[in-house]
Amino acid sequence: MSSSAERAPAIRVPAIVVHGGAGADPSQAPEFRQGVRAAVLAGWRVLAAGGGALDAVEGAVRALEDDPRFNAGRGSVLTRDGTIETDASIMEGDRLQCGAVAALPGIVANPVAVARKVLESRQHVLLVAHGALAFARSVGIPECDPASLVTDRQRKRHAELARTPTSPGGGTVGAVALDRSGTIAAATSTGGTPGKLPGRVGDSALIGCGTYADSSLGGVSCTGDGEAIIRVVLGHRALRYLKDADDPDYAAKVAVDLLVEEGVGQGGLILIDWRGRPGYATSTRLMPVAIMSPALDEPRVPF
Ligand code: GLY
Repeated sequence: MSSSAERAPAIRVPAIVVHGGAGADPSQAPEFRQGVRAAVLAGWRVLAAGGGALDAVEGAVRALEDDPRFNAGRGSVLTRDGTIETDASIMEGDRLQCGAVAALPGIVANPVAVARKVLESRQHVLLVAHGALAFARSVGIPECDPASLVTDRQRKRHAELARTPTSPGGGTVGAVALDRSGTIAAATSTGGTPGKLPGRVGDSALIGCGTYADSSLGGVSCTGDGEAIIRVVLGHRALRYLKDADDPDYAAKVAVDLLVEEGVGQGGLILIDWRGRPGYATSTRLMPVAIMSPALDEPRVPF
């Protein structure tokens, strides 16, 4: 990918797009729409006030982590052992700075905030499990009662899993934003797949797979079958398609085809290109998406 140093400095028109997961249950579509709408507005308030893309995507993802309807933060799915372990990552595309946490024990309500601190530490990119928790404590991230993250819906789902072990994950969340200075950032957060083995890490923690940002090209957040997304390095590949096609919707569609055909999995993704044009595609029945830019009076919620 080309360096952002080659990008001519210019005032950009800001934009933000968020998703609420490619495996979302279609019977709950209105509730999911409400959730992504609120989250995109949380991110938009940052951009509209002249704030940065990194703060905007963190703000939007935090809103989705706090919303128990989504599989991230509060509302995360449970592992085989009935515990919560979360994955999250965040990236800014000017200097390709990134931070991530994986298999973070479920006593942190906002895993994306820990990923942001990892990014800011500049020492490492990815911290896992108890090391990630120790880091979170060292930088003052508040802990919560683990029971407060477990919803009745996920408790019920966990019980059902014993009977139907192939229940889809769904509800992973993500955001991509472009700010006025031309910086693109992306973030993704998830509880992972229901009934996963403790210690399993999916794409959402992996830069280049679930999340990627390069301000000279665009940013991306993926959702869906994590193992399949990892196999095809979906986030980075999607930005390659964007570079070749210069059409965000087309790039998103080709990337999803890659996921289905070569990755042998289902899922979707959201994109923003360096001009602020959004794109999205999914192979599933529902992927709640919300978009906001100065051209819109209200968030666009296409699904
Ligand atoms: N895409 C989320 C996960 O597989 O963990």
